[in-house]
Amino acid sequence: MAVLRWWRRQSLRFRLTAAASVVLALALAAAASVLLGVLGQALIATTDEAAHQQARQVVSLVDTGRLTDPVDAPGGTIVQVLDHTGRITYATAGADRLVPLLSARARAAELRRGDGEALFLDGRPYGIPDPLRVVVHSADHGRTVIVARPFGEIVTSVATTRRLLVVGTPLLMVLLAAASWVIIGRTLRPIEALRRGAADISGRVRSRRLPVPESHDEVHGLATTLNDMLARLEAADARQRALVSDAAHELRSPLASMRLQLEVALGHPDRQDWPETAAGVLEDTLRLSRLAEDLLALARLDESGGRPARRDPVDLDDLARQTADRYAEARVAVTVESLGPIIVYGDAIDLGRVLTNLIDNAVRHAGSKVEVSLRAIAGPVPEAVLTVADDGPGIPEADRERVFDRFTRLDSARSRDEGGAGLGLAIVRETVQAHGGRVSLDDAAPGLRAVVHLPLPREEDSRRPGRSFP
Ligand SMILES: Nc1ncnc2c1ncn2[C@@H]1O[C@H](COP(=O)(O)OP(=O)(O)O)[C@@H](O)[C@H]1O
Ligand SMILES: [Mg+2]
Repeated sequence: MAVLRWWRRQSLRFRLTAAASVVLALALAAAASVLLGVLGQALIATTDEAAHQQARQVVSLVDTGRLTDPVDAPGGTIVQVLDHTGRITYATAGADRLVPLLSARARAAELRRGDGEALFLDGRPYGIPDPLRVVVHSADHGRTVIVARPFGEIVTSVATTRRLLVVGTPLLMVLLAAASWVIIGRTLRPIEALRRGAADISGRVRSRRLPVPESHDEVHGLATTLNDMLARLEAADARQRALVSDAAHELRSPLASMRLQLEVALGHPDRQDWPETAAGVLEDTLRLSRLAEDLLALARLDESGGRPARRDPVDLDDLARQTADRYAEARVAVTVESLGPIIVYGDAIDLGRVLTNLIDNAVRHAGSKVEVSLRAIAGPVPEAVLTVADDGPGIPEADRERVFDRFTRLDSARSRDEGGAGLGLAIVRETVQAHGGRVSLDDAAPGLRAVVHLPLPREEDSRRPGRSFP
């Protein structure tokens, strides 16, 4: 299979051109031979028809006794009229008057056959250079009419056509192959440009795009799709870099604070209040571990690619009450208002983190109370609606989307001490979206209301046994 291997090694341009040329060559050769055959057939049929016409005319003249000798016939046609003994009684000028063109046996056979097809006859034995098409008709009184038409012109014209085709077809072939080579080369050029563009994109040079051809064809589509992909990769890359630098930035201040406290304490060990130092260092350690916790949660969300890690039935009512119970000692009261169990499908730990983050924020900002409420809404898309409201300062309208971004803190001075690194709401939004829901912030006048919508399993989903949602 050396040929196959050689073929595979050739360029796409060469292979396409070669394949197209071979198919074209076969088609052209077939067309040429069909043309020759049909042309020959048509010309022969015309000749035969003319011979018959002539014969019928002579028969009618003979039968009515109006035939003159020599017989008058156009362009090279030979007519012989034989009486019942086989003697030639009339003939065209210059035709043989002694020997009929066909023997008695051949004449009889031809008359018997009578299918209208002429006989092919070599004219040379009769002193005629051309081949002949011969027809035999019978007339009254046992007479026979033989008409022969020379066939030479047809042979010549078919031969000429064949010569033309033999020379012309390969020429046409070469022309078409050359045209294919050029057109295929043109077609492939944008692909080569794409390849070169891709080769130019190095890891170091960011924000590079592939050249997009002007034509609106498949290559254009490929280039735009690849560019979209590059843009997405670039955005993901940028997000990753931002995350690393933001995380490092957030790590710096608790670490610096711990270091300072320890250095001061060790500088004057005997005058130091060690329990106070330990408490300060512990607080910073807690901040660090919260940050690590949040970063881990975000990494898991990124990893699972926008889907919850599990799809277990989770009772939001239960979850809300359990979470709220943990705030029994909090600065303000946390109440839960709910009419009964509401089951959604997802990851209990992730959903619990959503509640914790929202209640954490609310408790931190609330004036006197935090209300968690839960209800289900029916309809074509049944949903669970969870709200966490506080009576604190709220968030100005313009910032209500922005706070969902990672590492976004509004009251940085205050939350540096009490809050987190600005990852809480980002985790909330990404978790809720992974569960197919949405989250927004409203004005609770006064205060802020976080509203979470989560899809509920539809009636038929929950009624069908043995089928987990979705
Ligand atoms: N209930 C709320 N009332 C007022 N401001 C809020 C409330 N919840 C969140 N915010 C603001 O949104 C910012 C982002 O919240 P979050 O992502 O949870 O980060 P963090 O709690 O770490 O500061 C907070 O810094 C705070 O300024
Ligand atoms: Mg928070």
